[in-house]
Amino acid sequence: MTTVRYLPWQELFAIFPRLVEDTLTTGVSVCDIGGGANPRLGPDIVRERHLNYLVLDISQDELDKTPPEYRTLCADIGDPDLRLPQQFDLVLSHTLLEHVQNADVVHRNVHRLLRPGGRALHFFPTFHTLPFLANRLLPSGPGEWLLSKVQRGRSADGNHAKFPAFYSWCRGPVAGQIQRFTELGYEVETYLGAFGHGYYRRLPLLDRCESVKQRTLLRHPHPSLTSYALVCLRRPPVGPEEDRLATEADRVTDREQIPSLASRA
Ligand SMILES: C[S@@+](CC[C@H](N)C(=O)[O-])C[C@H]1O[C@@H](n2cnc3c(N)ncnc32)[C@H](O)[C@@H]1O
Repeated sequence: MTTVRYLPWQELFAIFPRLVEDTLTTGVSVCDIGGGANPRLGPDIVRERHLNYLVLDISQDELDKTPPEYRTLCADIGDPDLRLPQQFDLVLSHTLLEHVQNADVVHRNVHRLLRPGGRALHFFPTFHTLPFLANRLLPSGPGEWLLSKVQRGRSADGNHAKFPAFYSWCRGPVAGQIQRFTELGYEVETYLGAFGHGYYRRLPLLDRCESVKQRTLLRHPHPSLTSYALVCLRRPPVGPEEDRLATEADRVTDREQIPSLASRA
């Protein structure tokens, strides 16, 4: 049974790090996909909780910006042949999913990366909101120009560069979306949808209209009209014998054996 809730976008942004931290117990393994320049969990919590934390990103340029205390791996989460010799208790992504073209392959890969009983937490913008529709439909030149007008600090050499966006499967908690995840073998535990966004902050009249729209949608929510979503997916646990075999397999394929893993700690 999936818990579906709606809230203002500001609350969803605040909930994501809390939910990630609540999901963690000491010593668990975490893969931050598309973590690039900004891994979601800070180095203090990674150290204090003894997390086995891997930042996986398709871009070596972005990984070169990753703070030096993180282990990194340059790989495409949308590669159908992606195989890692390690599974994770938690796979998380923050504003990655809108940038992948083949969400079904990505979610299949994440399912495979999870230990039985492990969870995936994904935070992403959803397609049916004007700034994100424009981001999808405009060619990169005009798109980047428009973004520079509404948001500062999005240059390619900074930590918040702009990446091509496709919004594959980036939808709110519509029934079809929940079904897609279920068909891939996930339990869809929680699907939160948020209304509103901060892209009109420098355009006061539009910003006021957006606030009115947000309040109206919070009173009369519609899953197709969200601006952001957060989904918590679980790979179902297996029986005790399969669980024991999986854990043993993990032990022999310890992280040191991933050849391309750049441990820069
Ligand atoms: C908008 S940034 C988000 C970075 C970080 N998660 C954050 O919240 O600030 C998107 C990141 O996803 C990475 N990315 C895009 N497509 C990817 C793919 N197919 N596999 C892995 N990483 C990808 C980009 O290189 C970039 O670092």
